[in-house]
Amino acid sequence: MTKNIQIAIDGPAAAGKSTIAKQTAELLGYTYVDTGAMYRAITYKAIQLNIDLQDGEKLTNLLKETSIELKPSPNGQLVYLDTIEVTDEIRSPQVTASVSAVAAHANLREEMVKRQIEMGKNGNIVMDGRDIGTHVLTKAELKIFMSASVEERAKRRFLENQKRGIDTSLEELMDDIARRDKLDSEREASPLIQAEDAIFIDTTSLTIKEVSEKIMQLAKERMS
Ligand code: DC
Repeated sequence: MTKNIQIAIDGPAAAGKSTIAKQTAELLGYTYVDTGAMYRAITYKAIQLNIDLQDGEKLTNLLKETSIELKPSPNGQLVYLDTIEVTDEIRSPQVTASVSAVAAHANLREEMVKRQIEMGKNGNIVMDGRDIGTHVLTKAELKIFMSASVEERAKRRFLENQKRGIDTSLEELMDDIARRDKLDSEREASPLIQAEDAIFIDTTSLTIKEVSEKIMQLAKERMS
């Protein structure tokens, strides 16, 4: 008999969380939830509507009347904003540069966390983000905190962007990642910190396969 569990994967930008979380979910037949995509979707909508990204109240009200859906597809998870697909739009450099400011608002986070708790309540879930182990799936059977050096993360994002046809330089990416690390770790509302009961994995010199195998082994232990 295997137990149906919750898996929380947290860590800084471009640590490889989504690749690993997606793969783990696929191997286990679980649902994958990319919570960063939800913060990106509301940021994209706010930019389109010219809303001041410092105005937490306006952004929270906007979120309350916004539907964000994540749907699996053979080409990865698709993101729908008010029923329109925005999977690629939410990865634009403009959204990437603005999302930390939006994610810093406590009221907006409260509404996001409520939605994410609901998505995860039946288990069979792999969720990745910054506060999953600390605020969303607080009782998850398996919590992972993944990180890697800024250089390595920038290199990985660079290759990912190249594949997507997004033109950025390595220096720009290093600056952006370091800036987002700082904003995500120093914000007052649920800053990026490792949950006490999370397992730390430094992925700097590990391959995706190595990280994935490690997590699958831990997941199987928790499921048995
Ligand atoms: O993982 P990502 O780069 O797609 O995340 C986008 C931003 O959203 C990131 O700067 C931090 C924020 N975020 C957050 O604050 N909490 C989460 N659970 C997920 C992402």
